[in-house]
Amino acid sequence: MSTVLITGANRGLGLEFARQYAAAGWRVHAGCRHPERADALRAVAGEVRLHRLDVADHAQIDALADDLAGEPLDVLVSNAGVYGDTPERGLGRLDYDAWAHAFRVNTMAAARLAERFADTLARAPRPVFAALTSLMGSMADNGSGGAYLYRSSKAALNAVLKSLSIDLRPRGIRVLILHPGWVKTDMGGPGALITPQESVVGLRRLIDAGDDELSGRFLNYDGAELPW
Ligand SMILES: NC(=O)c1ccc[n+]([C@@H]2O[C@H](COP(=O)([O-])OP(=O)(O)OC[C@H]3O[C@@H](n4cnc5c(N)ncnc54)[C@H](OP(=O)(O)O)[C@@H]3O)[C@@H](O)[C@H]2O)c1
Repeated sequence: MSTVLITGANRGLGLEFARQYAAAGWRVHAGCRHPERADALRAVAGEVRLHRLDVADHAQIDALADDLAGEPLDVLVSNAGVYGDTPERGLGRLDYDAWAHAFRVNTMAAARLAERFADTLARAPRPVFAALTSLMGSMADNGSGGAYLYRSSKAALNAVLKSLSIDLRPRGIRVLILHPGWVKTDMGGPGALITPQESVVGLRRLIDAGDDELSGRFLNYDGAELPW
């Protein structure tokens, strides 16, 4: 049985990853901040284990890594993320505490997860560390400005993931840098272009492709290469 760990699995794209992997017969380790309130996640049929995981809390990442160290992990989906920016705190009123938090959740958590789960991943035959980034982290694509917290934390995440793709290659771990599209979730909003189901079908196709060539590239959910 293949095994996946998903962060932020209680709603949005993380919940959809949990549903699809569980339906495909995988063992799902589902991280969320409040397992006792994660009703939608609890309702997912299949082999789903809930874990308390606030990715801003390194001690919780470390504890879960120790907990799961006994079994190989095929895929880790670093999905949890925050937008951070608000209309009332734009340029001139930037919220630097919220900015630091966005970096902790969107950027540093992926590094900590990679550090602490690399050994467990390396025990699987074809391991993948997949992270949800955003096209909003692209310099080339930024034609509208704003979103200082989100754009910078995702751009920094892209830099982290690129280095991970190089540094983890000798251990056989592929690193996928994935933009999910503009998706109808709490973050994407109702006006977004695609459903979580469409997005995750595409993302899983890339994750499960087993293609070494995809590692370290900035990819849209449909496989198209994106500009940095
Ligand atoms: N939706 C889009 O259009 C879009 C586009 C580009 C990229 N993305 C990226 O895709 C990923 C998923 O986005 P989404 O649309 O599903 O967002 P969402 O609906 O807002 O859900 C965010 C998830 O992240 C979790 N989370 C936030 N802070 C956390 C923390 N400190 N520790 C653990 N979990 C935490 C949330 O948990 P709580 O319920 O506890 O808050 C929730 O499960 C994010 O990384 C996002 O940046 C989304």
